[in-house]
Amino acid sequence: MKYRRLGHTGLKISALSFGSWVTFRNQADVDHAAEMMAAAYDAGVNFFDNAQAYAKGESEEIMGAALKKLGWRRSSYLVSTKLYWGLHDSPLEKNTLNRKYLIESMGDCLKRMDLDHVDLVYCHRDDEETPAGEVAWAMHDIIERGQALYWGTSEWTPQRIQAALEVCEKHHLHKPVVEQPVYNLFERHRFASEYDAIYQDNAYGATTWSPLASGLLTGKYNDGIPADSRGALPHFEWLSEHLTDRDKLNKVKALVPIAEEMGASLAQFSIAWCLQNPKVSSVITGASRVSQVHENMEAMKFVDSFTPDVMEAIESVFS
Ligand SMILES: NC(=O)c1ccc[n+]([C@@H]2O[C@H](COP(=O)([O-])OP(=O)(O)OC[C@H]3O[C@@H](n4cnc5c(N)ncnc54)[C@H](OP(=O)(O)O)[C@@H]3O)[C@@H](O)[C@H]2O)c1
Repeated sequence: MKYRRLGHTGLKISALSFGSWVTFRNQADVDHAAEMMAAAYDAGVNFFDNAQAYAKGESEEIMGAALKKLGWRRSSYLVSTKLYWGLHDSPLEKNTLNRKYLIESMGDCLKRMDLDHVDLVYCHRDDEETPAGEVAWAMHDIIERGQALYWGTSEWTPQRIQAALEVCEKHHLHKPVVEQPVYNLFERHRFASEYDAIYQDNAYGATTWSPLASGLLTGKYNDGIPADSRGALPHFEWLSEHLTDRDKLNKVKALVPIAEEMGASLAQFSIAWCLQNPKVSSVITGASRVSQVHENMEAMKFVDSFTPDVMEAIESVFS
């Protein structure tokens, strides 16, 4: 494992991390989750990503119980949660970043995880109806209460990140330090271009998500949706259009020889492609099995294999 500085913070985060979206509860109970987390930790992962909304709070419960079972030194790993989507269908609690929701939810997340604090708390999306100042003050207060150590954003526009940074600067508040954007071979243009000023001028960190585009970039959907895959899970039918998109599948097939030439599986190749971008602090991987964790962690070996010729070959697939 390699470690990268998370933005301008003093944290050294593992270049590969592990998240629980979809998998915890839907595909993994506490024992299975603990086995996958152990496989990641043994490979050097020190960041485990979660969110209030994942499995309606049950993902936090499972990760908390798994951490208890694993008994690792609390100072040896980072754990996160995210707030925005909410757990209840009420205007005060859904798709919001109002102060009341943020402060009350943070306490509930910690109870579910049975932790004193999380290391990172993200605003899972932006809520343009709540002023950036209200969000920044609430996140600052969460940190002052010791419930989280750092805060960040996920899928915010650069303009709103800038607005939050300015409020924090003006009032000497804890600033957001990291964005969590989607980033994979299919969805890269926003991260690759829009955020430049934020990353360069503010040394903002980036923990990126869905490196395999939900598994599409493993090649497992090339001949249809396998029965034991994310694409076949109840309640995730909305993913099937993306996972069976003919144009995307043709691109996946065209990537196979490039990955083979490198000696990597398509999953390793796709994850390593995210890692070769130095703006990425950590690539958050996901897995439903321990064998996938082992395979994905080996992606580290291929980070330096993206020569200009390889990059050109990849671009020709996507042009
Ligand atoms: N901030 C946000 O809005 C946001 C959004 C989404 C995700 N995230 C974070 O990012 C993390 C990763 O996202 P993701 O789960 O979508 O990542 P992903 O890498 O795009 O997809 C992971 C899924 O692909 C399949 N897979 C993984 N490795 C494989 C391998 N070697 N061979 C075959 N199949 C493999 C598994 O699903 P099956 O085995 O079930 O097919 C696995 O659960 C999440 O857990 C979460 O922490 C954040």
